[in-house]
Order: sequence, then C-alpha cells, then structure tokens
Amino acid sequence: MTEKNIQVLLARRPEGEVRTSDFKIVETPVPQIADGQLLVRNHYLSLDPYMRGRMSAAKSYAQSVDIDQVMVGGTVGQVVASKHSGYQVGDHVLGAFGWQLYGVSDGTGLTKLAERGVPLSAYLGVIGMPGVTAYVGLMDIGQPKSGETVVVSAASGAVGSVVGQIAKIKGCRAVGIAGGPEKCAYVTKELGFDACVDYKLGRLTEDLAKAVPNGIDIYFENVGGPIFDKVLARMNPFGRIPLCGLISQYNAIEPYGLKNIGSILINRIRLQGFIVSDHFPRWTEAIKNIAQWMQEGRIKYRESVAQGIENAPAAFIGLLAGKNFGKQLVKLI
Ligand SMILES: NC(=O)c1ccc[n+]([C@@H]2O[C@H](COP(=O)([O-])OP(=O)(O)OC[C@H]3O[C@@H](n4cnc5c(N)ncnc54)[C@H](OP(=O)(O)O)[C@@H]3O)[C@@H](O)[C@H]2O)c1
Repeated sequence: MTEKNIQVLLARRPEGEVRTSDFKIVETPVPQIADGQLLVRNHYLSLDPYMRGRMSAAKSYAQSVDIDQVMVGGTVGQVVASKHSGYQVGDHVLGAFGWQLYGVSDGTGLTKLAERGVPLSAYLGVIGMPGVTAYVGLMDIGQPKSGETVVVSAASGAVGSVVGQIAKIKGCRAVGIAGGPEKCAYVTKELGFDACVDYKLGRLTEDLAKAVPNGIDIYFENVGGPIFDKVLARMNPFGRIPLCGLISQYNAIEPYGLKNIGSILINRIRLQGFIVSDHFPRWTEAIKNIAQWMQEGRIKYRESVAQGIENAPAAFIGLLAGKNFGKQLVKLI
C-alpha cells in the first residue's frame, strides 16, 4: 500500500478561540495489522462541538486529548484488511478513529453498519450520535406531550433539527432559534417547525414572545449564554429543560452569568444536563424510530461537508462560529 496515513494532532491547547495553529498535520505509514485486528479506511469524519472540550485540560466528563495525539472523533469507513474473524474486507463500520485516514481495531467499540438505504455519512448525524442525543434528550428528559410548546436552540444543526422534527411528530408546537434568515427559512419551510426566531436580529425577547404565545413547556438547550437567559424568562410552570450543550460558552474565557435563573425556582422547572454516552441502552430504539421517520419523510437532514482531512481544523473552527449549515462532516476519500 503506497498511500500514507494523514493525521491531525493537537499541537497546543487553545485559550479562547481555536486557531488552525492549534493543530498539526502529519503523515505516517499506513498501520500494519496483527492477528485479531482489522484496518479501516475512513470515509467521513464527524466534527462535533464536544471536541472543543477535549482540546482543553479542564475537568470534564471525558479525558482530554494529549498534546501530539490524534484528535478524537467519530468516523465511518470501510474495512480494507482483516485478520479478525468477525469482519471482512468491504464491511462498512462506524468507529472512533479520530482525525485520520486509517484506523486499526480489534473490534472493540466498532459497529458493523446494517444496510438501511441511507448514505454512510448519515450514521454520523441523523441516525448516529447527534440523532440519538436529540431523541434521548427530548423523549426521556423533555417528555413531550401533545399540544405543548418545544423550543430548541441551534435549531438548524445536527441535534436541533432532529429535536424539532420529533417534537412535531409528538404533536407539539416546535419553535427553533437559529442564526440568520437562511437557517430560519430552512427550519420552518424544509423541516416543518411552526416558527423560528433569528437571534442575530438582536430582538430575541420580542420575537420569542410572538413565537411562543402560550409560553414554553420544554426548552432543549444547545447554546447557553444570553439565549438561555431570554428563554428562561418565558418558561411555563413545570417546564423541562434538557441541557444538552452550551456551545456559545465553549470558547469563552469569562463564562456568561445567567440573570433569569430565578425562573427555574418560580416555575418549578426540571433542568437536567445529560451526556448521550450515558444512554447506550436507548440507542437501538432511538435509531430504529428515527430511521423509520426518515423513511416516512417525516425527518429530514442536511450536511455541511468539508473536503479532505487537511481542512478539518478550519471546518471545526467554522462549526464553533456557526458557519456550518447542518451536520458538519469531513469527507476523507
Ligand atoms: N450532551 C450530549 O451528549 C451532546 C451530544 C451532541 C451534541 N451536544 C451539544 O449539542 C449542541 C449542538 O451540537 P450539534 O452537533 O448539533 O452542532 P450544530 O448545531 O450542528 O452546530 C453548532 C451550531 O451552534 C450554533 N452556535 C455556535 N455558536 C453560537 C453562539 N455563540 N450562540 C448561539 N448559537 C451558536 C450555530 O448555529 P447558529 O448559526 O444557528 O447560531 C452552529 O451552527 C452543542 O452544544 C453540542 O455540544 C451534546
């Protein structure tokens, strides 16, 4: 095999905004496999906001990436060599080989992908980790009831887009919050949300009030910061807040202090942070239902695809700045 393995390593821990110089791109030989192992050529790398946390040494729910180590990340690809009895050359697999072209595995943590008639990339998005995150957060923590109002931030993104569409399927009023007219038009016209508020217009309080005339029963939180504060002010008694992410704070040196936190007490709100990897037993049901809804045309998705592993750092920086429009991927082949 003449091709090299190209890897993206963490070169330094960013302070504040991530820069391309925080990464280092290296070429290494394609790894050899031993008995019981298989070699995968990755086709797509998933870029996800959680990777910002892995670049930091701050205490978190998962270990940081060490300096000069390959950046972590979900991948889909194809087995190109196998000395493992459970895998054959040509099998498509979902793995976590990180920001690189090739990965070696003994099968641990690897999923052989069933043929569902969807593109390989979808296993990193709508029928992958982000889709399951939307499902678990909304269904298990949000517990939507028909007629309720569900608001979700980062509404055009990988998680938010699925949250709103499931909310509709469950008979709720779905309201998105997103940045810019294009994203908002997509959320309402393509995804079928009832309304979408463009927070970049700078009048979130007024526009949200119009979009949720009956208040908010469930707020699926993806962004944190001032958006969270303004939503808190419109929560209904006994509302639920699945706290999924705080992307507006991931690069922040001074975290934003919530002013409307009293709403949680006054309205007896149940707020629960969650991490999807704690919910593996829910994975099968989530994927089965989302795949079914996709087949029925009730769940749609969109992807932003960067081309080539060398462009992963810039695409990741773009994701943290809202430049992606839908699930952010890097095509590696
Ligand atoms: N808890 C879990 O297990 C889990 C799992 C997956 C994801 N998450 C979290 O879920 C959230 C969404 O992730 P995703 O993969 O679906 O990403 P995504 O929504 O596809 O992309 C991120 C989006 O966040 C928005 N954003 C970025 N900076 C912002 C800011 N300062 N203020 C408001 N919005 C901002 C941008 O959308 P706009 O252009 O609309 O602003 C951007 O497109 C993230 O917080 C992520 O960490 C959590």
